[in-house]
Amino acid sequence: MTDFRIQLTRPDDWHLHVRDGQMLESVVPDSARQFARAIIMPNLKPPVATVVQALEYRKRILMALPEGSEFQPLMTLYLTEQTTPEEIRAAADSGHIHAVKYYPAGATTNAASGVGDIRRVFPVLEQMQQHGLPLLMHGEVTDPEVDVFDREAVFIERELDMLVQEFPGLPMVLEHITTRAAVEYVQDGPDKLAATVTAHHLLLNRNAIFQGGLRPHHYCLPLLKREQHRQALVGAVTSGNARFFLGTDSAPHPRGAKESDCGCAGIYTARNALELYAEVFDEAGALDRLEAFAAFHGPDFYGMPRNSGTIELERTEAEIPETVDFGGQVGVPFRAGGRTRWRLVG
Ligand code: DOR
Ligand code: ZN
Repeated sequence: MTDFRIQLTRPDDWHLHVRDGQMLESVVPDSARQFARAIIMPNLKPPVATVVQALEYRKRILMALPEGSEFQPLMTLYLTEQTTPEEIRAAADSGHIHAVKYYPAGATTNAASGVGDIRRVFPVLEQMQQHGLPLLMHGEVTDPEVDVFDREAVFIERELDMLVQEFPGLPMVLEHITTRAAVEYVQDGPDKLAATVTAHHLLLNRNAIFQGGLRPHHYCLPLLKREQHRQALVGAVTSGNARFFLGTDSAPHPRGAKESDCGCAGIYTARNALELYAEVFDEAGALDRLEAFAAFHGPDFYGMPRNSGTIELERTEAEIPETVDFGGQVGVPFRAGGRTRWRLVG
């Protein structure tokens, strides 16, 4: 079917990695083409752990935007065991820092400076609660005894449940959820708890990691899960529940860093993100719910205005290239060499 078009309020991406330097320059235009704003992840090397670092990083992102772009990077701080309540106060006053990211130490890419024991930063969380500054969680335990496919479910039991009880007034986002357990916990959970959902976790189950061989471009963290979990995620985002909103977790790595004897986690969906989400909602017969998921629930949660502009999507196929440029290095986008079922037209 062609010529079928839908118009949406311009959406936002509430979880995005744009890196730095030449990589930043080549990836940020992809997001700016589709989204008005994005929450920018702070897991650079070294991490974006101070207000000064975050404001400098923001300027570099603005410099990398195509001319005329009004894309707004919404900055975050990387939570470490050295983060102070004073830094949180300064972040809340900065006007540009919208959240603090909690990586359990070692949980994923550039998470080495993360938090070993969340109890050690309770004074920082207390300060965030006072300012209403959201805590964004990479919700996986790092305990090597825990099966890698169970790390999200165990995080909910061991940490999240305790955090929501200790800090009932702290807005929290369980990022890139992948399991039925997370869906159920968030939909029945406290008012201040929400979750982002990626396009890749909505489109693929864990078979995709091993389809005909080992597929490094389907390796991300949290890992893809069983089909029943993918279906639970689709059910959550298409339910209209305002606690679920769009966060791509698009995470570019050069091809060599993924096709390696110890490949990096991360999938580059930014090039076609909105088209991929449209495919999910279309297949579920829920296109009428896409706009709220992509453009309303996020700003409502963050207490920010909804965007005023619009974008248009057409139900028609478009080719996805085999490779893209990541600042002079080769990148492999999601579904490289395949097709989208929708196309962003304006
Ligand atoms: O797959 C992932 N890639 N998951 C993360 O949590 C981090 C991200 C990255 O920065 O590459
Ligand atoms: Zn991420």
